[in-house]
Amino acid sequence: MTDMSDLFDAARRAAECSYSPYSHFRVGAALLCKDGTVFTGTNVENRSYGLTNCAERSAIFTAISAGKKEFQAIAIFTPDSEQAVAPCGACRQVLSEFAREDFPVVFAGKKEKVETTLGELYPFDSLQNLKEGT
Ligand code: THU
Repeated sequence: MTDMSDLFDAARRAAECSYSPYSHFRVGAALLCKDGTVFTGTNVENRSYGLTNCAERSAIFTAISAGKKEFQAIAIFTPDSEQAVAPCGACRQVLSEFAREDFPVVFAGKKEKVETTLGELYPFDSLQNLKEGT
């Protein structure tokens, strides 16, 4: 069974695969599916900077590409920062396509860990309102 500490280990390993020669800032993400499987992702940068893909979206797109659509939690690890670094706005929006407000989002740097929910990070989301018919 995958617990949060296993999920963090997976995020840690994913960060080691980071392709980040421009920012030198590695990020690893691990997405736990409802069926217990785990998909990881890392940030992939490009010399045309705007084409960079974040770790979180890499993990989500990999899981979706493998046929998964139901998720339990995501863990994000940034080994190059002391502080925990929250997912960017684009990743929050992409996550909100597949997760509800109570979805656990846990992110950590070397010295800080934050445990929160998608609803805290991305309140007043349009799709949640649409799903709830409000
Ligand atoms: N990055 C992520 O992978 N996830 C985030 O939520 C924040 C930023 C990456 C993008 C870029 O490769 C590097 O971190 C520095 O911004």
